[in-house]
Amino acid sequence: MKRTLEAPSNVSSETYRVYCGRDKSLTHRAIMFASLAEGTSTVLQPLLGADCLSTLSCFQALGVKVDVITDSPARVIITSMGSKHFTQPTRDLDCGNSGTTVRLILGILAAQKSLTFRLVGDESLSSRPMKRVVGPLRAMGASIEGPGDGNFLPLTVHGRDLRPVAHTIDKASAQIKSSLLLAGLFCRGTTHVELPKGSRDHTERVLQTMGAAIRTSTTDTLEVIDLAGPFVVKPMNVSIPVDPSSAAFFAGLGLLKSQGLIEMPEVLDNPTRTGFMNVLNRMSKGLQFIRSESQGFVEPVGLLSVKGGLPLFGTTIDESEVPTLVDEIPLLAVVAAFAKGPSLFRGLSELRVKESDRLLLTAALLEAAGAVYEIRGDDLWIAGGLEAVKPFTFDPKGDHRLAMAAAIMARRCKKPCCILDSECVRVSFPNFYEALDAVNSF
Ligand code: S3P
Repeated sequence: MKRTLEAPSNVSSETYRVYCGRDKSLTHRAIMFASLAEGTSTVLQPLLGADCLSTLSCFQALGVKVDVITDSPARVIITSMGSKHFTQPTRDLDCGNSGTTVRLILGILAAQKSLTFRLVGDESLSSRPMKRVVGPLRAMGASIEGPGDGNFLPLTVHGRDLRPVAHTIDKASAQIKSSLLLAGLFCRGTTHVELPKGSRDHTERVLQTMGAAIRTSTTDTLEVIDLAGPFVVKPMNVSIPVDPSSAAFFAGLGLLKSQGLIEMPEVLDNPTRTGFMNVLNRMSKGLQFIRSESQGFVEPVGLLSVKGGLPLFGTTIDESEVPTLVDEIPLLAVVAAFAKGPSLFRGLSELRVKESDRLLLTAALLEAAGAVYEIRGDDLWIAGGLEAVKPFTFDPKGDHRLAMAAAIMARRCKKPCCILDSECVRVSFPNFYEALDAVNSF
């Protein structure tokens, strides 16, 4: 579906309270751990976006019972006999658009002795590299086959007994790290993972909370994790905070407004996810994030407030910062286009293998809006100083984050703009347009 976005014209300096979508990474992990555990778990306020529904449907195919209750507060009740009793699926496991689903679940499935699985996904997912997890899982004894020597879906997994291995990973990727840790849960002995610092640490935190024998440490550049297996996961009840990656779009909108305040409660407060706030703090004095007292969330939460009408300056994002804001680059590029002075985002190679080539598509959005930018290898330079956004039609190529970044850009245009396939936002933030419609542009 294509959507024409027009900036609302009522001028007001109100305060808006925006409840953004719940956290995608945490919802995936809650579903996975609940499915591994024997008994009933409740995931309160889950994200019911397309990606997390893909994860749910994969575990349903393994015999896990899932009740999705959409009344407020939404919840998913998961009843499992435990991973030992997963049943042979009679259908393909469809991971849809979700890289997190396929990469994390591979670590689990590879260890399910005497079961066979076939993983498939949509066109975007089928072109994304899987060797980054398949390779290290094979080193643990996994049997995973697919096109490109196991680099692409469809992948066939024959569950096996796995052995613990010391892995050295060259990417700061939470998906790779988590996949190996999930496989490590089924191994007798210590799974060791070393990788560049900064990727999200939700899997480690959940394992720590559940009492697994997991040790994490960091050096200047590396993080090191040791997990002693086997570990049997217990059922749990968890409440999911708001996704900082979704809140980022409203943080950007708030800073680009000429006045008013946007407040976002219950935003996940985890430094491996809030790198975009550090960047926006360097660009403007309009952002505040205060830890809330709220109890019961799987990780701490805070109130994010963003004030419009303040000066906005260009900034540099270093490669080492990228893992903490890897999904927020398209939005940060939109904000940087309006800043006083240039911005330089360094080391964006991982963006090329996300749901789309996000570096190219971010550039295409800047181009369509009339911003001045340059791609220099894997770096993005943005001139800043954009005043009049050109009315544009933009095709996010099915990438939810690009569609939302384009919608924020469209808010700065005096004429209507058009986003093709605008409904792809359902992957991570199903009520994005409703939330956006409730906030004026001024
Ligand atoms: C995710 C990790 C990130 C991120 C993705 C979700 C996760 O990928 O881009 O949207 O939930 O573990 P990488 O860690 O592979 O960069």
